[in-house]
Amino acid sequence: MTFASRMSCVSVSPTLKVSAEADRLRRAGVDVVDLGAGEPDFGTPKHVKDAAHAALNANFTKYTPAAGVVEFRDAVAHDYSSRYRVSIKADQVIISAGAKQALYNAAMVLFDRRDEVITHGPFWPTIVDQIKLADATPVVVQTHREDGFAIKAGAMIDAFTPKTKAIIVNSPCNPTGALIAEADMIAIADAAAARGIWVIADMTYEHLIYDPVPHNLVKILLDRMPDRTVICSSASKSYAMTGWRCGWAIGPKALIAQCNVLQGHSTSNINSITQKAGIAALTGPQDEVTVMLDDYRRRRDAVHGWLTADPRIVCVKPSGAFYLFPYVADLLSPTGIKTTSELAEAMLKEVAVAITPGEGFDAPGFFRLSYATSIERLREGVDRMFAFIAALEKSGKIPTPANR
Ligand SMILES: Cc1ncc(COP(=O)(O)O)c(C=O)c1O
Repeated sequence: MTFASRMSCVSVSPTLKVSAEADRLRRAGVDVVDLGAGEPDFGTPKHVKDAAHAALNANFTKYTPAAGVVEFRDAVAHDYSSRYRVSIKADQVIISAGAKQALYNAAMVLFDRRDEVITHGPFWPTIVDQIKLADATPVVVQTHREDGFAIKAGAMIDAFTPKTKAIIVNSPCNPTGALIAEADMIAIADAAAARGIWVIADMTYEHLIYDPVPHNLVKILLDRMPDRTVICSSASKSYAMTGWRCGWAIGPKALIAQCNVLQGHSTSNINSITQKAGIAALTGPQDEVTVMLDDYRRRRDAVHGWLTADPRIVCVKPSGAFYLFPYVADLLSPTGIKTTSELAEAMLKEVAVAITPGEGFDAPGFFRLSYATSIERLREGVDRMFAFIAALEKSGKIPTPANR
């Protein structure tokens, strides 16, 4: 079968691949500890579900405007205006099916063949694949574990060429958990503004920042380049609403109007009931967001401690999101398990623990572990992982710390 050529440059998301295999095993009756999933284990807050029930009971089940009901666009505008001390209006907001569609709309509306789009790696693969789907060329600036995966303005600006159309910054970052420092965001924004380059900020994990560090990317960007800033985010991670498909983009009116045209011809409005739930999430009590954040922090600290007790597992403590991204090259060898893909495959097969190999994030030698699961399951997963490592060590497939 022949498919459109654009399909040859993208592949199945590796995160989805792992969860599909874990799911297959689970359905076959295996007790899988899933540390691969990129979604909260918490339930959606009750008041949000109540709003959805009320919408359903009131027959709020028809088409809405493609960009979402004004009440929701207003709620997003108000939420960002007050949290980030900026002034955003409803006509600068479009409601989309998750941050994923918000980012996709922006890519399709902005990027052309021959455009270059700069982002940082290790990256969430969809960012790069969406650039390719829009026919543009991704330019990846690598960040490094040695300095906590810092996203450095200098390196990003050095990658500018006359073809640079946009920069995509993901902070907090999936998979590294790094935050871009405000000073770096300022330097990037100033340089981008001077050259007419767009900045797209993927802020999907914006509520999952563990320490009170200044991180007002919205204000930095809107103060400096209101005409070339796009903010994409969603209710998915902040409010434990991944399945509802509830996200948004904030940008200049003209760009949002173009996203509206595109969305109007593709998916149209997101689910009407989800929109009512989204309004309740943004305008209702926020205490559950804090409860979840506190729990993620406890899990992060615990699992980080357990893993790094083995000197072969080197791991930056993440500042945000809910992933650990350990470097495990010392567990690999040319005669045993050679890559983190093989490691993940073997671990799932042997001890039924699902992790995501670094190759999918353009980061061989690393794997991603999601701690969006209960502390008991995390403990069980790490115990199984260490049992697996010990067994491989015994059989000579993994170098022992002593003979490295
Ligand atoms: C960095 C990043 N951006 C965007 C998304 C998309 O999330 P959603 O479409 O559920 O809002 C994800 C999901 O995992 C993500 O990790």
